[in-house]
Amino acid sequence: MATSTAVSSPFSARLNRIEISATIAMTAEAAKLRAKGIDLSDLGMGEPHFNTPRHIKNAGIAAIENNFTKYTAVGGIPELRKAIVHRHAADFGSDYKPDEACAATGGKQALFNAVQVLVDHGDEVIIPVPYWVSFKDIVEYAGGKCVYVEADEEQDFRLTAGMIERAVTSRTRAIILNTPCNPSGAVINPDDMRDVLLMAHRRGIYIISDECYVQLNFTGNVTSAAAVKEAREHLVIIGSLSKTYAMTGWRSGYALGPVPVIAQINKLQSQSTSNPCSIVQKAAIAALEGPQDCIAEFRDEYIRLRDQVLADLAQIPGVRCARPEGAFYVYPNVSAYFGRSGLNSSSDVANRLLHEAHVVTVPGEGFGTREHIRLSYATSSAGLKEALQRMKNFFASV
Ligand SMILES: Cc1ncc(COP(=O)(O)O)c(C=O)c1O
Repeated sequence: MATSTAVSSPFSARLNRIEISATIAMTAEAAKLRAKGIDLSDLGMGEPHFNTPRHIKNAGIAAIENNFTKYTAVGGIPELRKAIVHRHAADFGSDYKPDEACAATGGKQALFNAVQVLVDHGDEVIIPVPYWVSFKDIVEYAGGKCVYVEADEEQDFRLTAGMIERAVTSRTRAIILNTPCNPSGAVINPDDMRDVLLMAHRRGIYIISDECYVQLNFTGNVTSAAAVKEAREHLVIIGSLSKTYAMTGWRSGYALGPVPVIAQINKLQSQSTSNPCSIVQKAAIAALEGPQDCIAEFRDEYIRLRDQVLADLAQIPGVRCARPEGAFYVYPNVSAYFGRSGLNSSSDVANRLLHEAHVVTVPGEGFGTREHIRLSYATSSAGLKEALQRMKNFFASV
């Protein structure tokens, strides 16, 4: 009689549907080398190299000194929800009310909650490729089925409304858009955004618009999906202070959407983390209501770094790279090197870059493509130069 060799997992079935994030896995591998004293050029982690501006830090310190350290309302104190909608209105012309906002412990929590609230077992969720690593796992954890739409690399990974519309079926529950995109840096043209939103609204499909990089848009036209007011009944915006104000470690984000959706997000949050950290809430108010000059300063510096990294990548024979219009990543195609010196995948390339060239990157497999690696250029110009020189030497040697 045949015996099963399958080992049953002691953990829940839903946990088996997800994996540790590729970015975090690469960071952990890099940490091991660093612990051995190896000097790494780190283009792996997706976070600003800037420090949190002084007035934001001061607000956090004052919150502690003033003993603002107790539980708060689950979705954030009224002043924070007011600051979120005021900032959004000032920046993008939206007209959300405070009860259409829920503050969260990072944009990631807001996204996780929104997907849990909207997606049921078997629901289809359209995800453009390449995608941010967590979209797939968050949808699958909720029991949803990811339906992938491939962006065209020849068009710098820009999505069109037609590409999305062709993937819609009667089972489509939601579409996740991320513009500017992590990892490609592509920006969805506002006309295409409008067409997708109106199509989705007409068909009762939710759009989850991940706008964590909304301010890092280099096109000169910084827009939010919220501009399409006719579709607001089916629009959930995920916002984050992490990249805009160099606050990744503080964990501050939010969801904006129709009251019934936000109420459910609140309910879920009430049974998991409860309120975002009270001290961070005060810092977030200072960020949203205080001077906004840091945003343009950060953006201008990222544009300079983008141009620098593209120029250096262009000097590596065989490496092709789409031109990003936002965020702080480039997503070069390294497939010309597959078949050489045992390199057969982007994971091979990223691993060898780490162990031999001491450059941290993230392989494209985690973002849904097999031929690319992601480089974060949120680092000093000199650090970026050094990393690219190491990469150039590595590719010349294989
Ligand atoms: C596309 C995208 N969405 C959401 C997040 C989450 O940001 P946070 O949870 O720090 O606000 C990130 C972080 O890297 C991201 O790249």
